[in-house]
Amino acid sequence: MPNASSAAWTVADVQADTGWTYTLSPVESAELLAAVRVARREDKPLLAWRRDDFKLDKALPTLAAAFREVRDGRGMALVRNLPREGVSPEEFMLMTWAIGLHFGVARPQNRASDYITEVKNVGVAYRSPTGRGYSSNAELDFHVDGADVVLLSCYNQAPVGGMSMCASAVTAYEVVKAERPDYAAALGTGYSFSRNGEQSGDEAPWYAAPICDVEDGRIFCKWNRNRVENAQKLDGVPRLSSLQREAMEYFDTVLRRPENMFCMHLAPGDLQLLCNQTMLHSRTSFEDHPDEEKKRTLYRLWIARPESRRLPQSWEVFYGTTEPNAVRGVMKGHNYDEMRRRFDARQAETLGMRNFG
Ligand SMILES: [Fe+2]
Repeated sequence: MPNASSAAWTVADVQADTGWTYTLSPVESAELLAAVRVARREDKPLLAWRRDDFKLDKALPTLAAAFREVRDGRGMALVRNLPREGVSPEEFMLMTWAIGLHFGVARPQNRASDYITEVKNVGVAYRSPTGRGYSSNAELDFHVDGADVVLLSCYNQAPVGGMSMCASAVTAYEVVKAERPDYAAALGTGYSFSRNGEQSGDEAPWYAAPICDVEDGRIFCKWNRNRVENAQKLDGVPRLSSLQREAMEYFDTVLRRPENMFCMHLAPGDLQLLCNQTMLHSRTSFEDHPDEEKKRTLYRLWIARPESRRLPQSWEVFYGTTEPNAVRGVMKGHNYDEMRRRFDARQAETLGMRNFG
């Protein structure tokens, strides 16, 4: 049974009990593809789609169970057997979008205020002041993404590397607390995070928040080394204390211990779901396929979830609101316009969620 401590897992736990993996039956998988093919109009803008444009019924219970696992269970779920054979990248992306419309309010996730992104190596330097890992082939640090849940659907895998890693932030925090309580306390102090130049006009270029915080007896984690390092290069940002730096180094070391770092290879047709409040993720570097249409391709979607939990107050600066069941978590970017605002409001209404935007 899911309980408050299910999110505190070790590699041995998730290997011994694979109840966090789900497989769509052939009937469920076929329904997904049919829903997309019946609805698809090439000229229809992404944000014009509504949940009820995609008639899903049989596939919903399996997907709902995976989302429940993300909130109440281990914080991660893998759904296998999304249709992939003979499916075009455009259909696969729209399928990911259709799943998102049924389970939450998609959030913008970059400078361009995109609501879904193709994760592909386009040669971006991850360590640059505005670099984003999803556009590079670099090995990534453990981090969370910027909304309640991230969906990552795999269209093509890289021939070499590109392994997906997950670790429980709850477990890592508990380990740090047991071994170095002074570091655990430091993780609860304000760290400065850069917005990597993706801020909208009404947002500051950086903000302060703890790496770990507690709300209603639960550990919440918000960690992204790249953004903390980048903030240190900005004017007016307080320097990290040596204790803060040692604490974040220690935290990363604990995350990468073999008993805590779980590796999975996403295969074409896999959908990974992660809770960005208790799970940290990363990826190994990869070599890409020389053929353009065989290059590693995944689709990434960030969503705010109905019936979400209240967040720690310290997260308000980034999430916009800490209220449960609300549209929250946003990297507004530079193009957050009326069309996007309308999408957020309409989708929130469809799902019975609160929208303060
Ligand atoms: Fe990420």
